[in-house]
Amino acid sequence: MQKKNGNRGKVSAQPRIHQRAREIQEYGTVTHALPIELEEPVRLEMTERLNQLLADTITLRDLYKKSHWQVAGPTFYQLHLLFDKHYGEQAELVDTIAERIQLLGGISLAMAHDIAETTQIERPPRGREEVPVQLSRLLDAHQVIIREVRELAERASKEGDEGTNDLAVSDVLRTNELQVWFVSEHLVNMPLVEAVDDSSAAAD
Ligand SMILES: [Fe+2]
Repeated sequence: MQKKNGNRGKVSAQPRIHQRAREIQEYGTVTHALPIELEEPVRLEMTERLNQLLADTITLRDLYKKSHWQVAGPTFYQLHLLFDKHYGEQAELVDTIAERIQLLGGISLAMAHDIAETTQIERPPRGREEVPVQLSRLLDAHQVIIREVRELAERASKEGDEGTNDLAVSDVLRTNELQVWFVSEHLVNMPLVEAVDDSSAAAD
């Protein structure tokens, strides 16, 4: 006699679409037991700080893409390329920060609505702005991130989370400092064609 398989009637080639179920972990919590030798309160604080950093890094990343698309003027080509290079580097940081949150047992922010509610970076208009304003907005955003990442690095080190400290300093801080240099040099008021020679004026 053939053995009956209880599940056989449920097997089908039909995909089970439109499914929903309750969350398996709430935002703002960390999983209890992880063999990484970091206590829950430390992981809670680190994931909260990392999520703020994540929201601001996602916003800066997107501000670079906005600037890449909307830039205009005689420096269009070099800025168009530079903005996209920095966009790519910030996108890598986004992934590194988000995965650090997950490996600490937390939950990474991800969606635009949640990023918009969380970021501390000033919202730019939808329309186009002049190059000096684009550059200034980018530098202001970097400044927000650099301020909070230095604090994060210090707290992580104090609490014994050297992995987060290393990410904060080696990845986020160093990348942001370098990008600030590249952007801020474009805001130096440098003559393009004719040198401003003040020495002859002084001699008159
Ligand atoms: Fe592009």
